[in-house]
Amino acid sequence: MRKVTVNLGKRSYDIIIGSSILKKLGPYLLKLNIGLDAYIITNSLLKDKYGAILSSVLLRNGFNCRFKIVLDSEKSKSLGSAGCVINDLAKFDRKRKVFIIAFGGGVVGDLAGFIASVYKRGIPYVQIPTTLLAQVDSAIGGKTAVDLDLGKNLIGAFYQPNLVFSEINFLKSLDKRQVASGMAEIIKYAIIKDNSLFCYLEKKQKDVFNADPVVLERIISSCSGIKAAIVSRDEKEASGLRTILNFGHTIGHAIESACAYKNYNHGEAVSLGMIAALDLSCKLGFIENSLVLRIKNLIKLYGLPVKLKGVSVDKIISAYYHDKKFTGKQNKLVLIRGIAKPVIVKNVALNLIKEAASEII
Ligand SMILES: NC(=O)c1ccc[n+]([C@@H]2O[C@H](COP(=O)([O-])OP(=O)(O)OC[C@H]3O[C@@H](n4cnc5c(N)ncnc54)[C@H](O)[C@@H]3O)[C@@H](O)[C@H]2O)c1
Ligand SMILES: [Zn+2]
Repeated sequence: MRKVTVNLGKRSYDIIIGSSILKKLGPYLLKLNIGLDAYIITNSLLKDKYGAILSSVLLRNGFNCRFKIVLDSEKSKSLGSAGCVINDLAKFDRKRKVFIIAFGGGVVGDLAGFIASVYKRGIPYVQIPTTLLAQVDSAIGGKTAVDLDLGKNLIGAFYQPNLVFSEINFLKSLDKRQVASGMAEIIKYAIIKDNSLFCYLEKKQKDVFNADPVVLERIISSCSGIKAAIVSRDEKEASGLRTILNFGHTIGHAIESACAYKNYNHGEAVSLGMIAALDLSCKLGFIENSLVLRIKNLIKLYGLPVKLKGVSVDKIISAYYHDKKFTGKQNKLVLIRGIAKPVIVKNVALNLIKEAASEII
């Protein structure tokens, strides 16, 4: 079991990572002193698989709990669904202090965090992430959100959880595509910050897909550590440090949006975005083509796409120009000068971005 801390003064919190650690959840929650009424937001798949074990751990430690099921879909991240959940939460919140448990992947985590941030102007919440992507990324850092028809994550707040509890055993039931999606974010962390993690990933593909607990614990704690350190120093993306986490994401988001969030999941779109960013880094003379090939091989090794199908360059570019990472007419991209050497580049010429987008098609 490992512990990583996000250092934010009075709002600091721990991230606990390990396999077969669920029995320790109760004592951790009791120590936080955030109440005994646990309102668990999840979906039916997770409740069916793990609801009984989660509630038995909570009940054994004196907690009272209620499960609230939301749809297993990005559609749950909406104001409508948040409103329904909040009404139900208000009914449950009658006697004692209530806190929220986000039990699921990034969808549940973002929605539950958003609700925790607005209900009664903010109540405590705990993240129990159940996807690899959520354990290494979305559960950490306090970005909460719901979507609008006009775009994803347009409403939300920075609102930190009181604990992130990453039980690795939950990952055993993920399908291969979901594991690969989380691996895209993990590869991103390795590229921007951790050469030894990068080399480790080159050797551990089989163990990752076999859900080897030792290997997963090492990988998840490294990534949690990187994210925790960045969030501790730049919680609200004010100094630019947190921006490097967007490596592969600007073009990745444009791909997701150009494909109407259908053909590619987040990790797959980020993989393609990373390849475009690598191509740009190479075109600008920051890195050699041999490094592009080495990273591409790692992306392929984890079953992630390196070629984009079913969408035109023009569509990606027009989605790109609607991305919120544009300030005025200035674009801002995270590129690299080598592994663990990220660089933020402003005003990249449009023709170069177009060329990079064509490279992945
Ligand atoms: N807040 C942030 O910083 C942040 C960062 C990255 C992504 N996100 C958001 O996260 C969301 C994507 O998260 P995700 O990839 O976890 O998707 P998700 O929450 O939709 O989960 C993916 C699928 O896996 C299933 N699942 C979850 N845990 C499982 C388990 N243990 N076993 C079997 N199946 C399981 C879910 O039911 C779902 O069908 C997006 O909405 C994205 O915007 C937020
Ligand atoms: Zn991401």
